[in-house]
Amino acid sequence: MTLRVIAIDGPAGAGKSTVARAVALRVGLPYLDTGAMYRGVAFAVLRDSVDPRNEVEVARVAESISVVVDPNGVSVDGRDVTTNIRGAEVTSVVSVIAAYPPVRARMRAEQRAWIVNHGGGVVEGRDIGTVVFPDALLKIFLTASPHVRAARRVAEVGGDLEDIARSISERDRIDSSRDDSPLRPAEGSITIDSSGRTIDDVVGEIAAAFDAAATGIAAAFDAAATGIAAAFDAAATDTIDG
Ligand code: CDP
Repeated sequence: MTLRVIAIDGPAGAGKSTVARAVALRVGLPYLDTGAMYRGVAFAVLRDSVDPRNEVEVARVAESISVVVDPNGVSVDGRDVTTNIRGAEVTSVVSVIAAYPPVRARMRAEQRAWIVNHGGGVVEGRDIGTVVFPDALLKIFLTASPHVRAARRVAEVGGDLEDIARSISERDRIDSSRDDSPLRPAEGSITIDSSGRTIDDVVGEIAAAFDAAATGIAAAFDAAATGIAAAFDAAATDTIDG
């Protein structure tokens, strides 16, 4: 079954969250930020004073906590951590813990269940089109130049441009080189470079691509239904004639 999923993957600062939220509103699908789930796990690891380099301990945390992401924010074990997960501490360890296969397995299962419960969605992350929903109706790889990405992050959260650029490039390196679901464009994805483009412009391009994909599916369905009806008529005629 093709779920009504738009997968938006890409590196930090490419504009994924802003674009994904706006696309979701535009096409009438719910929005899921999977990065917030990994950040929730990183928050719990720090909360429990677990060493982020200890895969076994981190996996135990990921498997035992409850992370809920909804339009109001993110909660971990019932506590609202929407603001905490954006802090520098969580940001500095999230890619380390997100590279562990048991952590990813738990998150993937949660993400698939979320989409089934919601009947589809606009899902933003690093491995959505490649691994979590390879059959998504539309797959986007959203990127931008390193300079633009760092400048955007500084505008969002403040800080020194050089420091932020270094932190982003370190996360890019870990996210792209890990063995389990590395960050890369999915097969059949459309790559969009958002450098120097407005949000509206990018959102418009994605919404148009979604309409085209949905129309293509509807046309294929109509063609199949017409084929089935014709075969049924032929069989019925055979029976009547015979
Ligand atoms: O907001 P930003 O783009 O900086 O990052 P995020 O989307 O909140 O994701 C934080 C981190 O979680 C990423 O750097 C990845 O290490 C990890 N992540 C992942 O591994 N797989 C995903 N589907 C989403 C995020």
